[in-house]
Amino acid sequence: MTISEAVEGSEIAVEPELLAGLESGVTTSGVVEERFDVEAPFRGTVVGQLPACDDDDIEAAFDRAEQGQKAWEERSIEERAEVFKRYHDLVIDHTEDLLDIVQLESGKARRHAYEEVLDVALTSRHYAYRASDYLESEQREGALPGLTETEVHHHPVGTVGIISPWNYPLSLAVSDAIPALLAGNSVVLKPAEQTSYTALKAVELLREAGLPRDVFQVVTGFGQTLGEPLVARSDFVCFTGSSETGRIVASQAGEHLTKCSMELGGKNPGIICADADINKAVEGLIRGCFTNAGQLCISIERLYVHEDVYGQFVEAFVDEIESLQIGASYDHDVDVGSLISEDQLEKVTEHVEDAKAEGATVLTGGTGRPDLGPYFYEPTVLTDVDESMALCANETFGPVVAVYEWSDEDDVIERANDSDYGLNASIWTEDIDRGREIAKQIETGTVNINEGYAAAWASIDAPMGGVKNSGIGRRHGDEGIMKYTESQTVAVQKRLGMTNPPGVPHWLYAKLMNTTLKLQRRIPGMR
Ligand code: NAI
Ligand code: MG
Repeated sequence: MTISEAVEGSEIAVEPELLAGLESGVTTSGVVEERFDVEAPFRGTVVGQLPACDDDDIEAAFDRAEQGQKAWEERSIEERAEVFKRYHDLVIDHTEDLLDIVQLESGKARRHAYEEVLDVALTSRHYAYRASDYLESEQREGALPGLTETEVHHHPVGTVGIISPWNYPLSLAVSDAIPALLAGNSVVLKPAEQTSYTALKAVELLREAGLPRDVFQVVTGFGQTLGEPLVARSDFVCFTGSSETGRIVASQAGEHLTKCSMELGGKNPGIICADADINKAVEGLIRGCFTNAGQLCISIERLYVHEDVYGQFVEAFVDEIESLQIGASYDHDVDVGSLISEDQLEKVTEHVEDAKAEGATVLTGGTGRPDLGPYFYEPTVLTDVDESMALCANETFGPVVAVYEWSDEDDVIERANDSDYGLNASIWTEDIDRGREIAKQIETGTVNINEGYAAAWASIDAPMGGVKNSGIGRRHGDEGIMKYTESQTVAVQKRLGMTNPPGVPHWLYAKLMNTTLKLQRRIPGMR
């Protein structure tokens, strides 16, 4: 079946031409031997096939990426930045096409797909205008004041390998690549097999914005086959996905002594204080728990509600959830879309059924919605969850949140921190100073006060990432670009050398130096 026949047969509002042609963006070493199906989760239909690349294709992609990198690095930062200023506008101009493909492959609601367009635009803008500041060579204090001139340069590492997941197929395919490219690197991307058309569309627009073809290579197929050869050739590995796979990729990077960043899973806590604005908390936590049907690394899966407002909050939360519109639609007004796949539906169902069997109470949801599409699952709120249940401590990655009551602040902080993960947290209070105090005690890479996740994520100027099993390294801000560079220190020694001058015996030199050191520590401005 051809792509266009498949799309027509799937009763979905995507123009067949949108997909046809994208395959030419995949790098292969020659003849494609195997292909894999791409599915549209809304109906469970196959909408296309893409090359299941192998080691040889990875080698071909790195050969091209390495070839293209030198000329790209030699361009000025300003020239590189122009590409991303144009990309910012192109992505906005192509919003509708991008949303169609994201929804086609992921089954998410259109409003959640739109967050990806925003993210790519914000990231492009931030780094296009800030990269030259971040990357500028700097003067540093020399070994001997006045005699040593020391500067630091920031060189690109070379070729960055990116492995991305399916949950944010547009953002996570290109937003980490943008700073890597601005720093003068080339990129080889292995997008999630479920959502590679989105990645190919995003890269097509980058090329349209003026990025040279060789500088960004896309290899489609499965991580189990492509991960190892990709890590072996990368000068930096940027991985986003499950903690389990992250551990495998990080250990491979370790074998090659290759730097890496890992943005992994979360079991993110939300804390509602007694003085929280309940209406705001309900609205924010519906987004915080059910955006992209909960398939979001920073979404809230554990909710701790102060006893004074527990009843009020839970009632309002459940009421509002029950009025959400769930469905397979390409309109902006649907609140919650589908899960991505049968695997994901199985995992969510297993977590909820296991919790039910062990005594959890379902306040709303708790069941699939095959009437809406094969992988739909209702937004679900559980209570009476305890450690005997798999979902208590493990990431569900679905529209499921467990609600608990609290009374003592130290105790709730301890419970929020009682996790192997440490990605994101959400705190709801009208006392912002108190919220800030609590935030500092939470062991996560980001904390959102009076918001679920978006405030910290969209602060592109500030680092974002996880502690504990949630990852290594950060994206966004200075760390999000400097990680793709190697710093180089160049020191020039002038006049006197770094040892005893001619005619001064070494014992005297040592005495003079000791006196100088003691003086230096005591004179402000010389320390
Ligand atoms: P995954 O982490 O296995 O897949 C993410 C990416 O890694 C994909 O591009 C995949 O092809 C690649 N990959 C898979 N195995 C690999 C390997 N051995 N070496 C190198 N790359 C490899 O996630 P998957 O299998 O799609 O989902 C499994 C579970 O992971 C989900 O149920 C969910 O709970 C969790 N997950 C969490 C994410 C997060 O951001 N927190 C994102 C995606 C999945
Ligand atoms: Mg996997």
